Amino acid sequence: MAERSGKFAGEDPFALARSWLAEAEASEINDPNAIALSTVDASGMPNARMVLLKDITDDAFIFYTNYESAKAQEIEQAQAAAFVMHWKSLRRQVRVRGTVVREDGPRADEYYASRSLKSRLGAWASKQSRPLKNRATLMAEVARVTAQHGTNPKRPPFWGGYRITPVEIEFWADGDFRLHDRYRWRRENPSQPWQIDRLNP
Ligand SMILES: Cc1cc2nc3c(=O)[nH]c(=O)nc-3n(C[C@H](O)[C@H](O)[C@H](O)COP(=O)(O)O)c2cc1C
Repeated sequence: MAERSGKFAGEDPFALARSWLAEAEASEINDPNAIALSTVDASGMPNARMVLLKDITDDAFIFYTNYESAKAQEIEQAQAAAFVMHWKSLRRQVRVRGTVVREDGPRADEYYASRSLKSRLGAWASKQSRPLKNRATLMAEVARVTAQHGTNPKRPPFWGGYRITPVEIEFWADGDFRLHDRYRWRRENPSQPWQIDRLNP
């Protein structure tokens, strides 16, 4: 596609997403890797929340969470999710839709091990998305898991990654007079080649 150049150059949307994120890392005030993750519950009711994107591989986007959380239940039921990243400093967004599987092997162990001890223990202590009586109850749970797991906790079986394999990725950049630039990579399924289209703003 001859007219696609500059910030939209290249055929590989994963490389392009990595390059936009790298630019955002230099310009955002915090959390350039924050994504608004969207899921849908069993009744079809949508849901959204921020999580941190931890990896962009050659074929997937990976984030980490609690496998017993609301988002996890929604993901496992639908086996699909979407997310958007928006960088105010760059006036750009990236949208992704795809199928989701767990990332709970060595990659998840490695990422868990890279986190601070407090974060690792926090993952053990939090019953994410379930009601909490008060903060003291949570702190007591942190003390309990600290005594139980010590200074080298294993990754909890209920905590790990999700790998989103996209069927659609859209790159959007702000243009004058709201005439923004949009390019969409789309494929029927991950074994098909990408089709790239420019879209109206
Ligand atoms: C900037 C930001 C980053 C966050 N990153 C994560 C994350 O990486 N993983 C996670 O489980 N929750 C993260 N959270 C908390 C989630 O937004 C959410 O409160 C939590 O995961 C429970 O969501 P759920 O009840 O829909 O499962 C983050 C929140 C913010 C504001």
